[in-house]
Amino acid sequence: MTVNEILKSLTLKEKIRLLNGVGGWYTFDAAGKLPKIMMTDGPHGLRKQGAGQVDINDSIPSTCFPTASCVANSWDLDLIKEMAGEIADQALQEEVGIVLGCGMNIKRSPMCGRNFEYFSEDPLLAGSLATAYVDAMQKKNVGTSIKHFACNNQETRRQSSDSIVDERALREIYLRPFEIAVRNAQPSTIMASYNKINGKYTCQNKKIIKDILRDEWGFKGALISDWGAAVDFPTCIKAGLNLAMPDSGGYQPGQLEKAFKRGEITEEEINRACEKVIEVVLRFANNQKIKADYNKAHLTAKKIAENSAVLLKNDGALPLKPQKIIILGQMAEDMRIQGGGSSHINATPGPNVIECLKHKGFEIEYEPAYPADDKVESTSDQERKALAEKAVALAKKAAEENTPVLLFCGLTNRTEGEGFDRHDMALPAEQLKVINKIFTVKAKVIAVTFGGSPFALPFYDDLNAILHMALAGEACGEACAALLTGEVNPSGKLSESFPFSEKDLPSRATWGKEESAIEYRESIFTGYRYYDTFKVPVRFDFGFGLSYTSFEYSKLKVSASDFDAADANEALGNVGGKSGYGDTANATNKLTVTFTLKNTGKLAGSEVVQLYVKNPQCDYLRANKELRAFTKVFLQAGEEKEVTLELDAKAFILFDVESGKYIAPSGTYEIQIAASLSDVKLSEKITVKGMDYKANDKERLPSYFEAVDGEMFNHKDFASLYKEPLPDDSAPVPGTFTIYNSLAEGAAISKVCKKQLDKIVNGIIEDNKKMGRNENDPAVKIAVCGMTENPIESIILLTACKFKPKFARALVHLVNRRFLAACRELIFGR
Ligand code: BGC
Repeated sequence: MTVNEILKSLTLKEKIRLLNGVGGWYTFDAAGKLPKIMMTDGPHGLRKQGAGQVDINDSIPSTCFPTASCVANSWDLDLIKEMAGEIADQALQEEVGIVLGCGMNIKRSPMCGRNFEYFSEDPLLAGSLATAYVDAMQKKNVGTSIKHFACNNQETRRQSSDSIVDERALREIYLRPFEIAVRNAQPSTIMASYNKINGKYTCQNKKIIKDILRDEWGFKGALISDWGAAVDFPTCIKAGLNLAMPDSGGYQPGQLEKAFKRGEITEEEINRACEKVIEVVLRFANNQKIKADYNKAHLTAKKIAENSAVLLKNDGALPLKPQKIIILGQMAEDMRIQGGGSSHINATPGPNVIECLKHKGFEIEYEPAYPADDKVESTSDQERKALAEKAVALAKKAAEENTPVLLFCGLTNRTEGEGFDRHDMALPAEQLKVINKIFTVKAKVIAVTFGGSPFALPFYDDLNAILHMALAGEACGEACAALLTGEVNPSGKLSESFPFSEKDLPSRATWGKEESAIEYRESIFTGYRYYDTFKVPVRFDFGFGLSYTSFEYSKLKVSASDFDAADANEALGNVGGKSGYGDTANATNKLTVTFTLKNTGKLAGSEVVQLYVKNPQCDYLRANKELRAFTKVFLQAGEEKEVTLELDAKAFILFDVESGKYIAPSGTYEIQIAASLSDVKLSEKITVKGMDYKANDKERLPSYFEAVDGEMFNHKDFASLYKEPLPDDSAPVPGTFTIYNSLAEGAAISKVCKKQLDKIVNGIIEDNKKMGRNENDPAVKIAVCGMTENPIESIILLTACKFKPKFARALVHLVNRRFLAACRELIFGR
């Protein structure tokens, strides 16, 4: 049957019902009038919840691949394609139509709890990796849902915060990766984020989801809400949303029916929303069930982990030959392989690094040194002391015997995860305490680190080497051992800057605040664009990573010294391919950049080569330089290759707010071939003929050029950059409180609401206690944050009306001190 035939066969009621999911994961099948499909999380493995599996950590076993933050460090589009292909196979075996991934939000701050699900701080890298993921998965006819579109850059109040972003930052930084993926891979669906963008919830934001996404970029798929994000459903459908997830227990279809009866929405608008849902269902419903090869997938997970780990320091301590070593740190035993929340995979981890190294002939003595993450609260001071003493004693012995110490440490599930943010960049206190003691004995220490995000490394100078495994998936132990011994040569490079501390972050003035309006004051100066432009030192640069071999760069050739960039806006469509954004399939005017790369060491290895374009000096907002192409090259020892990267007008663009188009300002630019952001190996100047661009930002926005009264990017200048009046950020007061406010906001002004919130939170904590989890458990944190910070209506949606609509409405009346209305609602409401 065609989309039209199905649409015609459905009653209005069925069409309305089709726009809301069934249960947690299915589409509606109108009693067999159309097929249904299942969607499940991703993104770095399949999280399919079978019958009766409702707990967030409960799902069928599947392969746990490295997380997005980890695989991004590989900078390898082919590897990410392999990973997506394996996940697609497992989806086909499990009869899943759409994998809810990949996550691709820009990292505005390294402290966002969910950064492990995202690729990078750079739009080109994030967009290129996402394009590869979507392409590979859809080639196997499994749907994708790139998320969370858009500006979902903090977990604090993630369902109610308002991301206030100026047009240039929106276009060049936050929307750009999605634009790259949409234009190049046409994801079958996109997941609209929880938050508001510039005053409007994304699901209701016509400018973002229709004018830009559909009309400008040509998105053809279905737009799905994040789970519980489609508040005020009729407005969402009118704005361009297609499907609200999950099943709201009849609440959302009921809202739509009423809106239709009131004439607020037409049948055409409902049909338009339905068409996309039917298209997607028809596309993925008839897939052949296959048998996935889990052994092969495990090997792929290992290969990705090996190619994504980043060697951050090495004074020659690595690689290690089979010998006697001391291993300290509980994370060597329980290696952290993934993050917590909706992406949590029911993994079957391979052997840990201790077992793997033993297998390779190492003689190992091991002490955990600090308590396991889930035992932090239940470990007594005395037990901690004993753990530390044993570790220090072993380190002392290592120092005396000149035995290397492998120290395992990093961020844990309690410090970062979906639904909550970090407040600083420190490693967990229980680890830091013992680590500092270990250094007093002056052993040779090699750190192996874990985390979904950068962390402060105050003890950097005390280390002889650092191997950053990130969150490397189920084959972490095997990959780690192969890297430590030099069986595999590290080749990952950081896909985000590693700042020294939270005090250095460009977004520090506003990010992660418990306020509804979050001004993105740093504008386009995200990540390295800030550190590099304003000369703020970082621990490790964007793009940094060492190898056991060395590379020599020579013979740079740029195909022209003048470049006509008049077609900047037209060139936008063509990205993807081996060198990401640098692949310029259809652009009319291209620039070819070639150079020779030689492996001058004794080991085979891969080098991630980065092409930055240094922008001209100017009086408008612009980063010093930007990543414009990249590739990864494998070379045998002594081998050399000519490397070619292509650029087109996109390499020189910025978004011109006046004309609403990307333009390339004329000027002298510099093409830089680099091993990392600041390790430029070769460069050549080029004259670009584009637009004579003048903005005079220097006078208008002085704090965007240097600190004014000690402050960069001040509120006054941001207001003028933003142009429109800033959305109202005042907290609700009795009389203005609505069902779109949160229980926490209600609790701040109403005792009754506070009581209700406490009751709900205590209920969650008590229920979890029965499962052996305390309030610091990440799964509990997500649930508590959700109930506290979500709009009240979203609680109705997520509980499928178990949180009763009439009760919610009565509560709103009570907060507004309309006691009679509250009673009426409780007695007569539905
Ligand atoms: C997350 C999504 C996820 C969905 C379904 C939401 O809370 O933000 O990323 O796909 O739940 O589990």
